[in-house]
Amino acid sequence: MVSNLIWMVSRGILLGALLSAAPVLAQSIAEKVEVCAGCHGQDGKPVDKTIPIIWGQQAGYIYIQLRDFKRGDRKNEIMQPIVSSFEKADMMAIAEYFAQKRWPELGQPRSPKNVAQRALSAEHSVGCTGCHLEQFQGDGTVPRLAGQSQAYLAKTIADFRTGARGNNPGMTDLMRATSADDLAALTEYLAGL
Ligand code: HEC
Ligand code: HEC
Repeated sequence: MVSNLIWMVSRGILLGALLSAAPVLAQSIAEKVEVCAGCHGQDGKPVDKTIPIIWGQQAGYIYIQLRDFKRGDRKNEIMQPIVSSFEKADMMAIAEYFAQKRWPELGQPRSPKNVAQRALSAEHSVGCTGCHLEQFQGDGTVPRLAGQSQAYLAKTIADFRTGARGNNPGMTDLMRATSADDLAALTEYLAGL
């Protein structure tokens, strides 16, 4: 009887502790993502063209970027201080939070035919869709590119080429091996998807 009572009491206490801890945890993630909206947008549309869409981006990819900003493998004076206090569990929860949102439509124009043709022939020789998938929707740690902000795509591709973005040497090699004109066409094409 006594051990039964102890069991019930301990269960009760444990349950109580779990119930009171749960909202606190949930709130801390909600609080942590509040700041993001100031730049990445209340409705998922970034407030500036050079800021990437993160709503509906692949969770694995978002997590890797937050981790790389924190480690300093991806250098950015805006993002690095924002993630500096995040633990791995925070970054995973934040990645999941944004991945579950609906990708926003920026309404960027479809690229003209000659640009699309140039982009597709560059795509065929490099094989971007081998990793980014057929609709450039990405998967896991490979990002979605379709409909991403054109100015951001241009900036980050330039950063891969100069080495300013050095967190993925494979992408840097690929971007260096592709001509600037082909990349400009790809950027315009991808933004309009
Ligand atoms: C003050 C503006 C600002 C705030 C606030 C901000 N970001 Fe960013 N974020 C940026 C900019 C600018 C970039 C692009 C950096 C670059 O060009 O490399 C970026 C890049 C990113 C990327 C990389 C996306 C990609 O496609 O590679 C992720 C992920 C990200 N931010 C997540 C967040 C999260 C999560 C928060 C909130 C905790 C947040 N950001 C808050 C401005 C901001
Ligand atoms: C071998 C696989 C592979 C191929 C081929 C490839 N990519 Fe990528 N790409 C990746 C991965 C993985 C990342 C994420 C890198 C990181 O974690 O920072 C990436 C990132 C990117 C980004 C950054 C997106 C963002 O939100 O910041 C752009 C832009 C991009 N790739 C464009 C291209 C284009 C254009 C091609 C073809 C010319 C291409 N990639 C070919 C694997 C690939």
